Amino acid sequence: DKKVTINTLHKLRGQEKFVMVSLYDAPMAAMAQQCGIEAVLIGDSLGMTVLGYDSVIPVTMEQMIYHIEAVARGNQKSLIIGDLPFMTYATPEQALTNATRVMQAGAHMIKIEGGHWLVDTVKMLTDRGIPVCAHLGLTPQSVHKFGGFRVQGRDSEKAEQMVADAKALAAAGAALLVLECVPAALGKIITEAVDIPTIGIGAGTDTDAQVLVINDILGLTPQPPKFSKNFLLETGDIAGALKKYRDDVKAGTFPAPEHMFG
Ligand code: KIV
Ligand code: NA
Repeated sequence: DKKVTINTLHKLRGQEKFVMVSLYDAPMAAMAQQCGIEAVLIGDSLGMTVLGYDSVIPVTMEQMIYHIEAVARGNQKSLIIGDLPFMTYATPEQALTNATRVMQAGAHMIKIEGGHWLVDTVKMLTDRGIPVCAHLGLTPQSVHKFGGFRVQGRDSEKAEQMVADAKALAAAGAALLVLECVPAALGKIITEAVDIPTIGIGAGTDTDAQVLVINDILGLTPQPPKFSKNFLLETGDIAGALKKYRDDVKAGTFPAPEHMFG
């Protein structure tokens, strides 16, 4: 049972879908390892899912580090990705300082939200040995710019901009790309336009991988997003739920049409 690395995920591209879960603590991280989840993300969604804020904006570096260390203690096998929270990567230098802390807490890669404006940051981090997962579409740190949690890239101008952003980030050295809440057709176009694995959440079935938040998988979210699914309901225990999620992604049966945006 080898450790999953970025090379593992690049080799899977085009061969087999891989699976990521956003989770925040050691026992869930251990469960994900046991269930063959290739990548775990310590998302800044923890501000909403475990800390009770109504957005991710209040999340601090200290909170991220605390949870990244816990996940890293619980999981010795999956690729571990840590989010940089709101306004901790506004300049490349600031990104370098904060990404260093996330890596030293136990992450193998950092994730940041944004398009063209991040090209220099992605290059700076990657050149210095910090792999970057980019994140486009509904980037929750920009919720107030979007005027709410809404699907992105619906009009053709915005869609074309997102494709150009994806290509620019990949060219700058991004190793993975998360696409959140975009029309399924756009998820497919972007996946075909870049040469790095794409990981969708509400981005249709054609991305190279899927990510869900553990709270949604386990039915802990009062008003779950359309793209998510409570896998605990049909399985009865947490390991069963994670395995069903993994198996359904691998088989191409999750997401189903009701989890996608047209
Ligand atoms: O914070 C998070 O959990 C995320 C995923 C939903 C991609 O960024
Ligand atoms: Na996030």
